[in-house]
Formats: sequence, C-alpha cells, structure tokens
Amino acid sequence: TTVLIVCGGLSHERDVSLSSGHRVGGFLEEAGWKVAFHDMDSELLPYLSSSSTRPDIVWPLLHGANGEDGSIRDILEMEGLPYIGSRAKASRTAWSKPIAKNVVRKLGGLSTPHSVTLPESMFRELGANKVIDLLVQSLGLPLFVKPTMGGSALGCTLVTNADKLPEAMVTCFAYGDVALVEQAVTGTEVSVSILEINGTLEVLPPLEISTPNGTYDYDARYTPGPTDFYVPARLPESVLESLKTAAVSAHKTLSLRDISRTDFIVDADGVPQFLESNVTPGMTDTSLLPQAAVAAGHQLPQLYSRLVESVLD
Ligand code: DAL
Ligand code: MG
Repeated sequence: TTVLIVCGGLSHERDVSLSSGHRVGGFLEEAGWKVAFHDMDSELLPYLSSSSTRPDIVWPLLHGANGEDGSIRDILEMEGLPYIGSRAKASRTAWSKPIAKNVVRKLGGLSTPHSVTLPESMFRELGANKVIDLLVQSLGLPLFVKPTMGGSALGCTLVTNADKLPEAMVTCFAYGDVALVEQAVTGTEVSVSILEINGTLEVLPPLEISTPNGTYDYDARYTPGPTDFYVPARLPESVLESLKTAAVSAHKTLSLRDISRTDFIVDADGVPQFLESNVTPGMTDTSLLPQAAVAAGHQLPQLYSRLVESVLD
C-alpha cells in the first residue's frame, strides 16, 4: 500500500505545506507505510493515473489556495482515489471565512465576531476615508482585517487606530480580492482539533495560544520559542467543554471529514467566538494539532497511521 502525500504547491503557504507534508510522511514511514511525495512541481494527473505511480491513498497536505479550496480534492474525486480529509465541496465552504461564519452561526448556533466583507473594487470606488468611516461606525475598533480566503495569518492586520485601516486593507488585497473586516474580540485564543477515526470523533484538548505581542502572526507560528502553548487551555472546565462542543458543531455543520481544526477566541464572558475551521491544519513541529495530539498522550506515527487505515477501510 502506497500513501501519496501531496505537499508544496504554489500558494503563499508553500513552505509550511512542505514542512507539514514531510513531517506527516516521516511519521507514516516510521509506522511502516510506503510513502511517496508529490510537490505539484510537475503534473499531478498523469502521476495519479499511471499504473507505475498510482497510489492507494492520498493525503493532501497542501495549505492555502488549491489545497484547501477544494481543487485538489476535485481531482482526487475524479480519479476515484481515496483520500484523507474533507470532500471538495465542504472544503470550499470552510475555505471562505465569511461563508463558514454564516454556516456555523445559522446552522450550528455558534457565536462569531461581527464582520463585513469588502471587495477591493468597492474600496477603490468609495475611497479610503469613506471606508474608514463606514467600518468604524458599524464595527468600532479594534478590528482585524483579513483576506476572506487565506491561511497562516498572511495578509492579516490587527487595527487599533483608524488611521492604519487603509494600509491594512492594501496589505490584505495583496493576498486576495475581498477583505473580511472583523471585530477583534479581546480574549483567549484557542484552537480545537478533531480527528475522525473509524466513524468516531476524537476531540483533542483545546490548545491555548499565548503570543508575546498578542497576535499569532506568521513568525509567531513558525519560529519556535516566543509563543507559549497551553494544553489544555487555562480556562474553566465548563469553557473547555463548550469549546469542544463548538468545534464538533463546526466540524459537523460544515460537513468536514477525517481531520479539522477550528479556531476560536474565548471572549470575556467565556463564550467561544468562531473564527474559522481549517480542512488542512498545519502539521509542522510548531503547529497546533500535533501539539494537542501529543499532549493528549498520542504517538504521532500511530495516530496518523490509524487515520490512514480508517480511510482505507
Ligand atoms: N494554515 C495553517 C497551515 C494552519 O492553519 O495551521
Ligand atoms: Mg486558517
């Protein structure tokens, strides 16, 4: 049985994906699997359909565009190959932060910070001053400006001063055509990972992220050291339970499969505010899901191996 790991790709998160892919692949090899890698540097379709290279199962570990937006999963579905993770359609829904926020709010009853979406064309038409006025009037400050689709906090800015909004919008538009402008909720940043093995959801302990300057940006994510993680999060038992319930609700209402990680801010009242669900959570050494799994007592080679087996069955 060959497990093909597809990682790398051309999104902004290429390096993270290479790291996730090789980490997972290494653990699977340790557990005795035959593992192949595809970096999307050459065409994937001929590789998947040629009898000499056709794998038995694929683990797509592409982060960002093409990976989490459903594209690669469409190809795998067309090829009739089993793969680990959410179906193409569910991935597309989760990948768009405003759509995912709406779905979990309306169907799952979750809380999510108030927000508006703003296309770049409208920003240019209205002009920066008008946009600042409208956003600050409707949402107040502080705000988070983020690309509606993206990962690893690339293109995201925390705006505490209205004068900094235009710059934040321009940074955001470098990563996508539409900005999600969201109220920045003060509270504890917590991430909840879920593994679905043989039809049973295992909710890993909620992991708290504590960064020195309060924003979990790209550097804080992938530079070991400055960010502190607490598993379980330093929150009352009842809040930990609501976080787990909320993560399960997001996983189910978004129709996610096999693996997911949902990110929240727990507000001053102890309510988990949904930020987003990730269909391809980071699997690097500094990433959240592997840390939560290890803290829960799992051995990663065995855990990832069980996930592959459960999809193959
Ligand atoms: N987008 C990165 C890989 C994460 O969510 O961990
Ligand atoms: Mg994400």
